[in-house]
Amino acid sequence: MDTRLLRLEAACFELLLERRDPAQPLWRQFGARSAAPLDAWPQGDARPTPPNALDVDPALTILPTHGLGWFHQPALAGARCGDRLGSGRDWCQDFRLVDVEADARHWRFTLEDPVARLRVRQHWQLDPGGDVVTTHVELENLGTEDFRVDWLAAACVPLPVHAEQVIGFAGRWSLEFQQHRETLGIATWRRDCRRGRNGHQAFPAVLVGSVLADDEGPAWGAHLAWSGNHTLLIEPLADGRRMLQLGEWLAPGEVVLRPGERHRTPDALLAFSDQGLNGLAAGFHRHMRTQILHWPAGQPMTPRPVHLNTWEAVYFRHDLAALKDLAAAAAEVGVERFVLDDGWFHRRNDDHTSLGDWWPDAAKYPHGLGPLIEHVHALGMQFGLWVEPEMISPDSELFRAHPDWALEMAGRDRVLGRHQLVLDLARPEVADHLFVRLDTLLRAHRIDYLKWDMNRDLATAAEGADHRGPAAYRRSLLALYGLIDRLRAAHPALEIESCSSGGARADAGILRRTHRVWTSDCNDALTRIAIQSGALRLLPPEVLGAHIGPAVSHTTGRRHSLAFRAAVALFGHLGIEADVRELDPAARAELRRWVELHKRWRSVLHGGVLRQGRLPGLAWVQATALDGRRALLAIYRVAEDLGRHMPTLPLRGLADQVRYQVRAVHLPAVPHGREVAPLLTALAGAGLELDGATLAALGPPLPPLPPESAVVIEIIAADGATQARAIALE
Ligand code: DGJ
Repeated sequence: MDTRLLRLEAACFELLLERRDPAQPLWRQFGARSAAPLDAWPQGDARPTPPNALDVDPALTILPTHGLGWFHQPALAGARCGDRLGSGRDWCQDFRLVDVEADARHWRFTLEDPVARLRVRQHWQLDPGGDVVTTHVELENLGTEDFRVDWLAAACVPLPVHAEQVIGFAGRWSLEFQQHRETLGIATWRRDCRRGRNGHQAFPAVLVGSVLADDEGPAWGAHLAWSGNHTLLIEPLADGRRMLQLGEWLAPGEVVLRPGERHRTPDALLAFSDQGLNGLAAGFHRHMRTQILHWPAGQPMTPRPVHLNTWEAVYFRHDLAALKDLAAAAAEVGVERFVLDDGWFHRRNDDHTSLGDWWPDAAKYPHGLGPLIEHVHALGMQFGLWVEPEMISPDSELFRAHPDWALEMAGRDRVLGRHQLVLDLARPEVADHLFVRLDTLLRAHRIDYLKWDMNRDLATAAEGADHRGPAAYRRSLLALYGLIDRLRAAHPALEIESCSSGGARADAGILRRTHRVWTSDCNDALTRIAIQSGALRLLPPEVLGAHIGPAVSHTTGRRHSLAFRAAVALFGHLGIEADVRELDPAARAELRRWVELHKRWRSVLHGGVLRQGRLPGLAWVQATALDGRRALLAIYRVAEDLGRHMPTLPLRGLADQVRYQVRAVHLPAVPHGREVAPLLTALAGAGLELDGATLAALGPPLPPLPPESAVVIEIIAADGATQARAIALE
């Protein structure tokens, strides 16, 4: 073995460095495993010096900074901010390697710049499944003056010349996780978030590849496990490669290290697959399942209970008798967790008041929440409660008692968002107060679940008594993490959903301490297909709240059949966001059958491999059991298309030799339909028997799909099909 090479060996990729002690290790590879001795290629010191360059033109190392003669984005930017003489010094660092601990699964590098008096520790860890490498960086001030940190990359890695396609995530309220494809050029590709939460507009992840196809070709993914400000950037290098950096975006002066202090970046999660976007997602999903999610009391995940969320059913109109009826109707269609949304607490009749006053409204709940909670439990369901702890309404008892607890800048106009202000959570007395309020609620009642909402960006978020001090973004987020951790320690059985006006706070950082994210306030099935597609690139389906909304979407006004709405929601953590009482008996029965279908498939949906893709005018999603013996496939018509016949959809993940029973549990009615082909009649009836090789080559026969409709197909190994009989939905 060449001792000059350091290799992290993932299941289907590697990270490779060349040691040049005491100089910094040089990047050789982040991507497919290579049998070739990659150090032989002159990438670093051995390169000929080009004309009109510094005599040493540095190649990409693990911590490139200005002092190395590095003219690209440095991995660390900062300077001394001590007295007048010291101010601005040490901005130009040059780190040397002083210690290495390395094996096939982890690296730990210690680097020092004795002149700038700074130490950096980098940690790289491959997860046990070999899917994802997690890295973070810690900076220590060894000097005698303060050091201001402007940027510290959590990861700084190379991408090869051919990786020129990028998917970034964009969006707005009710349209999160939109995948935006671009071709990388000479400009730096950069996405910043400065909203104090991930935001609808951004998601702290980026995907890169040469073609970025569904199932083929190399694909790189990077995700910052952090629920606040962030920067993702890809910069072209002088040798044609590109450098990917990601980390926390820091406001000016937000991090100043006193002598001896340390600053740690959030974790960056890095992965690669040669199986395209689906291969990449499978690795991230496994990592989230095994390393990120922590289920109550350290136990494995229980089957994800089907929700009913009251928001779109009643909004702020809470009436105990009506809610009890709603709960009964929900239980009847198979709901397992009833979540009481906004509107239950002191004087909360619209979104202008009351945030902070976390006790039941006396008019709506004269005997408190107990009667409703007991009713819900008596129906055999869990009870969940909506809260928005980080916020305070100017019209609230809490604000009248503690106006200084809100993040407002003295001498500046008040900045409201949804008529509310943000609490200064970094003040220990504020976090303590919130803990006591939530703890009191949780002790008083059997509340199984909190829907933890957060409905505005942080603006004028500054610390200090007059709130004119340093930016409070980072400390607020760390205080939030601390508060959730404390609550979970006090209530180990509690599950929590992270909601932020839909999916504005959904990342591996928040998912380390919560169990579900509310993917979007948009329950329009057509729009949801794209939203869920983006979120599923990184996050596994069991954490993505996906609700069957009312026939006419409250956010888009579009009308969809129950079958289309259900076929889309089926592939997440299922819920209902509608007034079930309004449904006629036939619609209730149909809804119950969809809920039953989800329950019958949820171990596959929530523990198998999820693949997705696009064909002209169509989107599809397939969940396959780990043993390849069962799969559920949905194909959606998302746009009209010129094709007169349906395309083929070859399926992956099944065993060639196994015979499968292939059966449609839902086929849409086709206007102007001629006679139905015999194959499709069989598909919709008793099912067809096809072997895995045929399904891999041609896929199942597909029916014509009218606009905004879906077909849902069960594929079950024929010898097990009898016990796993399909539930007829039509
Ligand atoms: C925003 C959330 O995304 C909704 O689901 C709902 O909980 C409202 N807030 C309540 O105010």
